Amino acid sequence: MSKIFVDACLGKETEYTPVWMMRQAGRYLPEYMAVRADAGDFLSLCHAPQKAASVTIQPLDIVGVDAAILFTDILVIPDEMGMDLSFVKGEGPKFSDPLTSQADLDRLIGGKEASDKLTYVYDTIKLLRKELDERGDEIALIGFAGAPWTLATYMIEGQGTKTYNLCKKMMYSNPELLHNILREVTEVVKLYMERQIEAGIDVVQIFDSWAAAIEPSKYDEFSWKYMVEICDYLKSKYPNIPIIMFPKGVTPFIERGGVYGNFDVFGVDWGTSMAMAKDKLGDKYVLQGNMEPCRLYDQKATTECVEALHDIMGGKRHIFNLGHGILPDVPVENAKHFVSECQRVSGKK
Ligand code: CP3
Repeated sequence: MSKIFVDACLGKETEYTPVWMMRQAGRYLPEYMAVRADAGDFLSLCHAPQKAASVTIQPLDIVGVDAAILFTDILVIPDEMGMDLSFVKGEGPKFSDPLTSQADLDRLIGGKEASDKLTYVYDTIKLLRKELDERGDEIALIGFAGAPWTLATYMIEGQGTKTYNLCKKMMYSNPELLHNILREVTEVVKLYMERQIEAGIDVVQIFDSWAAAIEPSKYDEFSWKYMVEICDYLKSKYPNIPIIMFPKGVTPFIERGGVYGNFDVFGVDWGTSMAMAKDKLGDKYVLQGNMEPCRLYDQKATTECVEALHDIMGGKRHIFNLGHGILPDVPVENAKHFVSECQRVSGKK
């Protein structure tokens, strides 16, 4: 049985346009908060396959999305490379000992060894594969990783940042070290995604959430080419597994024709015009997106955007999504409204 979401990613005509939401498993759902409380904290939840699988399934049952995204975090990779991840309440992720030198990088655990340590992720996938197959429905499971650049920003800054000054200082004054970090992370991501595929995911998404921090003329050199390298590796082994690339905030890179690579779906962020993206990329890639997530605060604003997106894309070579993640204070009713409006305009029965 072929899954509609997988077919849509591969550019095949489908009965309706599938919809899912980035960060759909999370804090806006009271049911998520209950499982997280039960697990103790967010990282413990990521390490508990039964619980992680159960919160992956929640948005399918509660908001009715057409695909599930594995519950874990992009930062488990640097954590297992030896960087000691913690989440400080109200402050987000922290690494106690950020990378400042080649010696710091040399101390980290590399490729195969690091990917071998992520067994809890593969165990979560195996549980989900079994559960989704038992449901006998057509729900695809999306696995994911962070782009090497986005992961490197946390590894170098030690936390989230508004200025990226430490990464950028390295980019301009010691590019060789930054490339060494990016190469090392790229190797882990390749093997990690391969293991996710072997465990049972149907689709890969690569999140380059902090792409916009790089000036457009440097974006290929410091991020995109590493993402494309990951695609080449995965496509050479698993040509039928679709890959979604989501670089957030790269309008100038798209406009100037910078996008290339062996992948299937381009995730359009909310700051980029869907019509422009269609014009530049629509023949080569299926487009995913791109409602501004804050429209979810208002049902009328949501309907307006869903209809406009449907008018632009015409139900072809498109996957409905937000243009970045759903925020924790969005009413669940409004998330359901978004999903059902996408399904209404695209004729899902
Ligand atoms: O539903 C899903 O999309 C699957 C789960 C998922 C999480 N993180 C769970 C999570 C996914 C796909 C991610 C990806 C992720 N993590 C990204 C890329 C996507 C994006 O939004 O740009 C990034 C940059 C991270 C790093 C990260 N993880 C940050 C900055 C934070 C704290 C900020 C925040 O959103 O609160 C996290 C924590 C995190 N990851 C939470 C969840 C549900 C919240 C933790 C909690 O429950 O307290």
